[in-house]
Amino acid sequence: MAEFVYFVGLCFLSLLVAVPWGAIAADEDPLQDICVADPNAQVKVNGFTCKAMANASDFVSPILRQAGNTNNKLGSNVTAAGAANFPGLNTQGLSFARIDYAPGGVVPPHNHPRASEVLFVVTGTLRVGFVTSDANSTLFTNTLYPGDLTVFPRGLVHFIINVGNSQAFSLSALDSQNPGASLLPSVLFASNPTIGDDVLEKAFNIPQTEIDMIKAALKN
Ligand SMILES: *[C@@H]1O[C@H](CO)[C@@H](O)[C@H](O)[C@H]1NC(C)=O
Ligand SMILES: *[C@@H]1O[C@H](CO)[C@@H](O)[C@H](O)[C@H]1NC(C)=O
Ligand SMILES: *[C@@H]1O[C@H](CO)[C@@H](O)[C@H](O)[C@H]1NC(C)=O
Repeated sequence: MAEFVYFVGLCFLSLLVAVPWGAIAADEDPLQDICVADPNAQVKVNGFTCKAMANASDFVSPILRQAGNTNNKLGSNVTAAGAANFPGLNTQGLSFARIDYAPGGVVPPHNHPRASEVLFVVTGTLRVGFVTSDANSTLFTNTLYPGDLTVFPRGLVHFIINVGNSQAFSLSALDSQNPGASLLPSVLFASNPTIGDDVLEKAFNIPQTEIDMIKAALKN
């Protein structure tokens, strides 16, 4: 009897390992060859409805040709190509981005609720990191050079900083046509309407004056 219970337990465990649970959290699989997004459709679906007639121009995009302007507070610029601005991506479970960085430029801590990300460094030296979602909040950090790849696991908070002396440039692939991005500084201190100071004071264990200082600084 004990052996039988053990056997059933083992079967269940191997099933857990074999079933691709990740696929459940990822974008739906396509049900047809192509489904080019129709931005004018009135019907709301999970994604975009398909254009009646697709042609080759729906499958090419110049969105990432130009470097983003990094002359801003963060010293970085993310240019993203997803199903919303590159209709051929609709239903394919993919999106792509280029990030340009001034020296010292930062992509602030953020997460993509619907995607894992693989990042390739084209030029420059980048320090990257992500933090686990368990109670330990373990940071995994690396310094990357041209040609290097890194991974930001699905949904985890991550950041990038250009630690080199020159302009940097990276490319990212994400496994969702609409990965989403929650930038922690904005989510916490610049939401609409504001998360009350009472919540933030307790959450950060600091007085209201300091909360208001952060809120004001983010607006500038
Ligand atoms: C392809 O479709 C686009 C937009 O739907 C249209 O502007 C373009 O003229 C079409 N191209 C050809 C070659 O039919
Ligand atoms: C990113 O670059 C584009 C293209 O130069 C520019 O239009 C946009 O304002 C820039 N974004 C930021 C936040 O600087
Ligand atoms: C968290 O850290 C503790 C102490 O270092 C360790 O025993 C535990 O296994 C860690 N948990 C995870 C999920 O990494």
